[in-house]
Amino acid sequence: KRFKIAVIPGDGIGNEVTAEGIKVLDAFAAYKGNIGFDYEFFPWGCEYYLKTGNMMEEDGLKTLEKFDAILLGAVGDPSVPDHISLHGLLIKIRQGFNQSINLRPVKLLPGAPCPLKDKKPEDIDFVVIRENVEGEYSGVGGIRFPDRPEETAIQTSVFTRKNTEKIMDYAFKLAQKRNKFNKVTNVTKSNALNYSMVFWDKIFQEVAGNYEEITTETTHVDAVSMYFIQKPEAYDVLVASNLFGDIITDLGAALQGGLGFAASGNLNIEKEYPSMFEPVHGSAPDIKDKGIANPMAMIWTAKMMLDFLLEDSDTEAIIKAITEVLVEGKTLTPDLKGNAKTSEVGDAVCEKLKSI
Ligand code: NAI
Ligand code: MG
Repeated sequence: KRFKIAVIPGDGIGNEVTAEGIKVLDAFAAYKGNIGFDYEFFPWGCEYYLKTGNMMEEDGLKTLEKFDAILLGAVGDPSVPDHISLHGLLIKIRQGFNQSINLRPVKLLPGAPCPLKDKKPEDIDFVVIRENVEGEYSGVGGIRFPDRPEETAIQTSVFTRKNTEKIMDYAFKLAQKRNKFNKVTNVTKSNALNYSMVFWDKIFQEVAGNYEEITTETTHVDAVSMYFIQKPEAYDVLVASNLFGDIITDLGAALQGGLGFAASGNLNIEKEYPSMFEPVHGSAPDIKDKGIANPMAMIWTAKMMLDFLLEDSDTEAIIKAITEVLVEGKTLTPDLKGNAKTSEVGDAVCEKLKSI
């Protein structure tokens, strides 16, 4: 089977790491033998915005609709305000295609540098389900009396029963499937957010009722941040709102060796629209054009895309290949104290894949 992939390399290191993701996808197709990918590239991002006034084509969603999946590098450049680049492309696609589940695994691979010195790879292995189309990032609000002394900013969170139930249900199903501790942690802040998060907790409890065999726990997001450092081994599946999920997954990335390892999928689980796969990191303007970005997050992201497209295929070979490169320690980028180039790491992973 051949899959049609829309590729949006985006800005900064987005371009650099995307090339390596594609390299590994093609190496995996060769390894499997019976699949292939047809890519179409879209030059959308900040440069496109500076030329056209839009981050993507105006009917870009229509164009993307016919693809099996979207692979995105990262967007953002110091020349464009970040809220414009984020809402003009990323959030537009996530919301427009109802990619309501943001799946973010946090897993320490052997050889990856964990800042917690007493933790081993088996201690750090959990998944955050981040709500991805509403909540704090709904984009509802406004400015009253701009530039006057009374100036007031309003940003409203939106939580619908339908979507919240869906997120919770996905988290419970994932805990069943992982079969690790059969546990779901509800990340909340219902002590302070007395409407939205109280509602969120209520839906969590309701859905939990359908999964008697799954243990539940409800923890405030500030405490979760502390426990990630103190006892990351306690976690299995966590479910969090858009904002909280965003924040705790950068912390999760640090636990697994940095943003160079954090992968994610924006899933439309109904499969009525394409899903989008992107590393958690941004465009990293501080290291762009140097060819030194770590492509492992993007390679892992490509693996997540394969999992979604192929469903039952053994894509673990890709993680094994990354792990072998890590453990060998010869071909690592500067964030891992090596001096390899981005493309050399991609080549090394492809080479390992051949011998697995
Ligand atoms: P960032 O993730 O781009 O960078 C944070 C730090 O991590 C930097 O020091 C960077 O060099 C390092 N880093 C990130 N990825 C790396 C990799 N693969 N290899 C080695 N080092 C890596 O986050 P920051 O600085 O907050 O944002 C930069 C721009 O990216 C902004 O315009 C922001 O809006 C945008 N952004 C875009 C995202 C996306 O497209 N999904 C997500 C996060 C930020
Ligand atoms: Mg983020």
